[in-house]
Amino acid sequence: MSGRIPQSFIDEILNRVDIVEVIDARVPLKKAGREYQACCPFHNEKTPSFTVSPGKQFYHCFGCGAHGSAIGFLMDYEHLEFPEAIEELARSLGLEVPREAGAAKPAQRGERRDDHFSLLERADRFYRTQLREHAQAARAVDYLKNRGLSGEIAARFGLGYAPPGWDALLNHLGSDTHAQTLALELGLLVRRDDGRVYDRFRDRIMFPIRDRRGRTIGFGGRVLGDEKPKYMNSPESPVFHKGQELYGLFEARKANQKLERLLVVEGYMDVVALAQFGLSNAVATLGTATTPEHLERLYRVVHEVVFCFDGDAAGRRAAWRALENVLPIMRDGREARFLFLPEGEDPDSLIRRIGCEAFQKQTADSIPLSQFFFESLAQQVDTRSVDGRAHLVELARPLLQKLPDSVFRDLMLERLADLSGLGPEKLAQRLFGKREPTPTGAVKARPGESGRSPVRSAIRLLLEQPQLSRWVTPPTGFEDLELPGVGLLNELLEMLWHDPHLSAGHLLEHWRGKPEGQHLARLASLPLVIPETGYEKEFRDAIQRLVEQRTAQRTEQLLFKDRRQALSESEKSELKQLLAMRHPGPG
Ligand code: UTP
Ligand code: MN
Repeated sequence: MSGRIPQSFIDEILNRVDIVEVIDARVPLKKAGREYQACCPFHNEKTPSFTVSPGKQFYHCFGCGAHGSAIGFLMDYEHLEFPEAIEELARSLGLEVPREAGAAKPAQRGERRDDHFSLLERADRFYRTQLREHAQAARAVDYLKNRGLSGEIAARFGLGYAPPGWDALLNHLGSDTHAQTLALELGLLVRRDDGRVYDRFRDRIMFPIRDRRGRTIGFGGRVLGDEKPKYMNSPESPVFHKGQELYGLFEARKANQKLERLLVVEGYMDVVALAQFGLSNAVATLGTATTPEHLERLYRVVHEVVFCFDGDAAGRRAAWRALENVLPIMRDGREARFLFLPEGEDPDSLIRRIGCEAFQKQTADSIPLSQFFFESLAQQVDTRSVDGRAHLVELARPLLQKLPDSVFRDLMLERLADLSGLGPEKLAQRLFGKREPTPTGAVKARPGESGRSPVRSAIRLLLEQPQLSRWVTPPTGFEDLELPGVGLLNELLEMLWHDPHLSAGHLLEHWRGKPEGQHLARLASLPLVIPETGYEKEFRDAIQRLVEQRTAQRTEQLLFKDRRQALSESEKSELKQLLAMRHPGPG
């Protein structure tokens, strides 16, 4: 394994790569004015709304809202993880990706990861061998047979057996203390308070959890009988993060040339049993709720995800949490559906009872996100009364605001319009187009709003024309302003003072995976209404407004303090200056 890719190298790649070339090699582009266009590779369309801007080094689809830098394009288009996209771009430029091996710490970490992976592989092999060879193995094999699993499926998922006793794995590792340390770090061994070390997994069927490359990163273990706990899982470790990994994803990709849809179920056994019965596209979270990271990972592989939940109240609550997490990434072309299972069934028992075909039909007939969304909300209000319909809009508002600007969002708005009796334009205005005073009295821009707060306006223009940054000189003092986005504006300015040629695509990569990155990408996607000749004036006006707001705010602060307690000498002179700026004297 290799260490981290240095930020300086990522910057170099972003400086040297041309997004037009990168995309054109995969999706042939046509020149249209200063930009390039094509039919969007991320959703079905007949007329091109996919636009690539060489100036901004940024692509954007007006149809489905997909957008990003050259790196983001490769990740989405070729289903790559971040480091792989960097490798790919480096290759195209004839560069070798350096790893942070020079610095002692990261190198150590890299080596350590390697060691962890090999130890996990050793444990994996050990458990699998035990399933064939251990004196008690017949009990485990019988258990699997009783659950209807064939040897072929057990092999596909690498199922194993952790023998009874306290030291089977411990003995297997022998006197190798380094291996023991690693196994402790990975939670395969546990150290008691008195210092004695023992096996975590004992007399259990072992389910290896594999990462996207097929390397084992942890285990789930099931008891053979009714003992508690039924399942035990590897704890979080340097290579195992439950909030990101999905059990069965590697196996699903391996079994399917082209995956179109993934089914998210609850348990290890569900995944394996579904595969046994011919459905090899199920994945499970690892005893946790689905996280946004899980969802990003799923939609990088397929465009349709079906969530399976119990039909009871707890299942509905879990489904609602999944829905809330999925809203922010529901851009066009992506689909989410919900399958509620009959009382008392899980996917394992259901497919056994009704067979693969009937199960598949149920998945195909599962409830679309929009339906689940409005049915759930409508249950909470009385849609026959005006109050109830107003309440419905209020309930839907924060949720719909999470949706990216997309055709899907428009359709959801139309549906809400139908249900509430408000016209879609009015609703859109209420949900996305209104300024709302925040408690501090500052004006807060709503997400998706195209209104022009000076902060938004300044950021938007910097993304278009980074050289505008020279019209501001440090220090800005803006950080005192209680306005959303001011911190981000300051950081952007800092970066651009350093290098005024950074493109929008480059800038937003610095916030990859963070809300700021998404915010910047959204802003970069917004069309600018003013002609290029007006950029400079617009930018300077925005900055001027911020300076004025800062002046006003600081004046208020000092006047307020002056009434309660005495001002220091420097504060007094500052106030005098500020007041002079606010009320320019005669002459
Ligand atoms: P279930 O209890 O629904 O088990 O747990 P299951 O998948 O139906 O398993 P079988 O059919 O009895 O073998 C679902 C998931 O919740 C986590 C595991 O990830 C399991 O697959 N779980 C459950 C635990 O982590 N610990 C437990 O004790 C139980
Ligand atoms: Mn079950």
